[in-house]
Amino acid sequence: MKRYERFADEISELIRSGVLAPGERVPSVRQASRHYGISPSTVFQAYYLLENQGLIVARPRSGYFVREQAQRLLNEPEMNPCVQETADIAVSELVFSVLGSLQDSDTVPFGSAFPGPELFPLPRLARSMTKGLRALPADAIIADMTAGDPDLRRQIALRYRLTGVHLTPQELVITNGAMEALNLGFQCVTSPGDLVAIESPAFYASLQVLERLKLRAVEIPVHPREGIDLEALAESLARHPIKACWFMSHLQNPLGASLSDAKKQALYALLKQHQVPLIEDDVYAELYFGTTPPTPVKHYDDEGLVIHCGSFSKCLAPGYRVGWVAGGRYAESISRLKLMTTISPSVPAQVAIADYLQHGGYDRHLRRLRYALETQQGHMLDAAARYFPAGTRATRPSGGYFLWFEFPRQVDSLRLFHMAREQGISIAPGPIFSATQGYRHCARLSYGHPWTPRSEEAMALLGRLLASF
Ligand SMILES: Cc1ncc(COP(=O)(O)O)c(C=O)c1O
Repeated sequence: MKRYERFADEISELIRSGVLAPGERVPSVRQASRHYGISPSTVFQAYYLLENQGLIVARPRSGYFVREQAQRLLNEPEMNPCVQETADIAVSELVFSVLGSLQDSDTVPFGSAFPGPELFPLPRLARSMTKGLRALPADAIIADMTAGDPDLRRQIALRYRLTGVHLTPQELVITNGAMEALNLGFQCVTSPGDLVAIESPAFYASLQVLERLKLRAVEIPVHPREGIDLEALAESLARHPIKACWFMSHLQNPLGASLSDAKKQALYALLKQHQVPLIEDDVYAELYFGTTPPTPVKHYDDEGLVIHCGSFSKCLAPGYRVGWVAGGRYAESISRLKLMTTISPSVPAQVAIADYLQHGGYDRHLRRLRYALETQQGHMLDAAARYFPAGTRATRPSGGYFLWFEFPRQVDSLRLFHMAREQGISIAPGPIFSATQGYRHCARLSYGHPWTPRSEEAMALLGRLLASF
């Protein structure tokens, strides 16, 4: 922890324990600086953090005050500082056994990887599919088979412009979801036995890709709010022959961390210096809270080193399996690899999405979806603060639909997973997010489904199960 984070933690403890009451003024910057022996800028940094966490509010010309309800907010998890090297990754058995349990439609889907289906404009998409297919010239059904539907690629290139990325549709290859994009990217820049850098904790399917491609991994720590630890990465790049990196710069899965623009720029500079390609997994790009779309690392890429992967699975059309890859200097090789493996994605699904992007009101849908997710996040955080045991920590991401919980050390999240499953609740236990199956006392919970009394009961039940450890 940095000095300002330690100080912020101390103040948040005072708030949570009630020593600093709701509405009370927190120590002024001058008082805090003198009393704790830290600089005023460190105090400011800590207060900005506490403000972001919703614990304190600034009142013009009066200072900072404890927010009403602040006691009910949970502390932020700590970063696991260890860089680990792993030779043989073998996570698939565990991941499959956990994923298998998510199929049951009767469970409370806190373990789900998708938002609730009612949040998507499925009837409107179906209309787009019918309309698009009727208008499709007969030869297009075979002509667009490799890189993808030209209209769809144009629409995606236009959306990149909103985030400050200028690329041509020719750089884009449409894929069967982001999963294929990520696989192709990795296959293109590595050979079996190579060492690659991934995040810790990491999205479990990235670990499975490494396992399948027989790659070795260096796991770089991720801060729950600020994202990848650049110092640790710089050290690893200097010490090891790392061939590629797989990182999420925005709404990292599972932590929800997002890099600041300065950090994205620094990350790119580092990779450029070492000439290491970045596979940027950006599937949650559209699910930011607020009004400003984040810029990906791809924005800073002036050498074609970034292989940027996106998808409609999380924000528009789960099940259509339409994703894409903007492959930079690797675009041609990726296109050939795609041709050699799955040839092309389904034409009807592409046509439907291309028509929807043009005429369906995509931005209006996204605004509603973001609003629903932000509201649902509030419900889950609130329930966790009420029902989960003291000492539980939680992230508070600025988008997406996952919360990462760090429970008291004695909790075993794999056991919790089985206990919860018997009670009809799914969760994603911490060990599936690590090549070394760490994070045993952690879990990822999804607030992607509309909040109901059943969700509330499930949180209360999880709280009781947690208390039994
Ligand atoms: C971080 C991350 N990357 C990639 C994917 C795969 O996306 P798609 O469903 O488009 O293949 C997922 C889906 O869970 C994800 O969470």
